[in-house]
Amino acid sequence: MSSAALTTSTEVYELGHVPELGLVPSKMLAQVIRAERFGEPRDAFRFEAIGVPALGPRDVLVYVMAAGVNYNNVWAAMGIPIDVIKARQKRGEPEDFHIGGSDASGVVWAVGTAVTSVAVGDEVVVHCGMWDPGDPWIVAGKDPMLAPSEKIWGYESNWGSFAQYARVQDHQCLPKPPHLTWEAAAAYMLVGATAYRMLHGWPPNVVAAGDPILVWGGAGGLGSMAIQIARAAGARPVAVVSGGSKDEFCKQLGAVGVIDRRTFTHWGKLPRWSDEIEYNLWLKGARGFGSAFWAALGEKQNPTIVFEHPGETTLPTSCFMCETGGMIVICAGTTGYNATFDLRYHWMRQKRLQGSHFANDDQARGVNELVTAGKVDPCMSRVFAFAETAACHQLMRDNQHPSGNMAILVNAPRPGLRTLAEVRAEPAR
Ligand SMILES: NC(=O)c1ccc[n+]([C@@H]2O[C@H](COP(=O)([O-])OP(=O)(O)OC[C@H]3O[C@@H](n4cnc5c(N)ncnc54)[C@H](OP(=O)(O)O)[C@@H]3O)[C@@H](O)[C@H]2O)c1
Repeated sequence: MSSAALTTSTEVYELGHVPELGLVPSKMLAQVIRAERFGEPRDAFRFEAIGVPALGPRDVLVYVMAAGVNYNNVWAAMGIPIDVIKARQKRGEPEDFHIGGSDASGVVWAVGTAVTSVAVGDEVVVHCGMWDPGDPWIVAGKDPMLAPSEKIWGYESNWGSFAQYARVQDHQCLPKPPHLTWEAAAAYMLVGATAYRMLHGWPPNVVAAGDPILVWGGAGGLGSMAIQIARAAGARPVAVVSGGSKDEFCKQLGAVGVIDRRTFTHWGKLPRWSDEIEYNLWLKGARGFGSAFWAALGEKQNPTIVFEHPGETTLPTSCFMCETGGMIVICAGTTGYNATFDLRYHWMRQKRLQGSHFANDDQARGVNELVTAGKVDPCMSRVFAFAETAACHQLMRDNQHPSGNMAILVNAPRPGLRTLAEVRAEPAR
């Protein structure tokens, strides 16, 4: 990689020190995962001083104010389903560590020689879709999320936002919504843009006014975004939750109704169709869940889009209850990957089962505009100190985290600040 000139001093800066704009230390503090620590997130992350990466011509170095917390770095910490470090080494990258973090808010601190879309000093949020600008697929103008070179920054790539500086590509930087604090600005992009593509990216099955939409995990990161994006399009989202205050949370975001999944027991793999007793029990559960959806919606209409991510435990029900010609759109298998469903309903009712993964630049911009216009709230739930990176990932792993999206303060000295000027004005720690 050709290195753009960075003005460097020789030391690592302490947290809380805000250097001159453009001045970059040789090392930075990062929360690092190494293969020998793969396992529970609480054990996997450790502070280390790591060399600040060199920039290629289209790269941008971001001074990270805050980082978002996502499930992908729970997986990275555990080393499953893939060992992200080994996967990169196989591609020829030398680093034997992982600096994760796929959401960031911060300030452009240095740019590569060919960068024109952002400048040093710009306050930005970062989306996590990266790809090789020279990839023939990209050059041909096709959807970059289907390109052979596509990768998720801060998961499949190194140099994510759990560090004082992050290396990103120029097109990943979008204007930071000015009304948001650094921590709120770091919280929404990964889940928001993913939800945006799932609901708007798969014509003709795109969300429209009046549509009934089923949203699994309505109080989670993805779900909270899906409810709001659906509402912004005039649709009628019904959220599924596991009770408690999550019910009210989803309604406040715009869900027209909420289903408590704990009142049903038919979850998991579909029983074999020839096993009549088991299958009929499952069918009874699925029909009961369908009736709960109608009750929550207020009329007997099935969802035209089912917003899926739990996977193994819920997909049989999602496929059963989706409207004729509707779409089950799925971006994860949080509860397992061996999904089953009854093909008879699938072909006779001509439903679509669509995989979806993060978002392209337009879709990331789409959700950023909704946030900037105040139509989607980041649902920033809880702010953690940089030293608590392991702890918040463990909460997520244990499904003990609060509703919405969590953030970590990296260089921002305290919650509530919105600009670099406000950060500079803070008394030294
Ligand atoms: N491919 C992509 O681009 C992409 C992007 C973002 C996220 N993801 C993946 O999507 C998944 C969810 O991410 P997230 O950020 O929304 O996580 P999250 O904030 O933890 O939310 C997940 C929600 O799933 C629900 N859930 C948990 N177990 C469930 C079960 N057995 N049945 C039904 N619902 C269950 C929980 O809600 P209740 O307990 O209230 O039901 C929880 O709120 C993760 O696996 C993540 O890696 C993929």
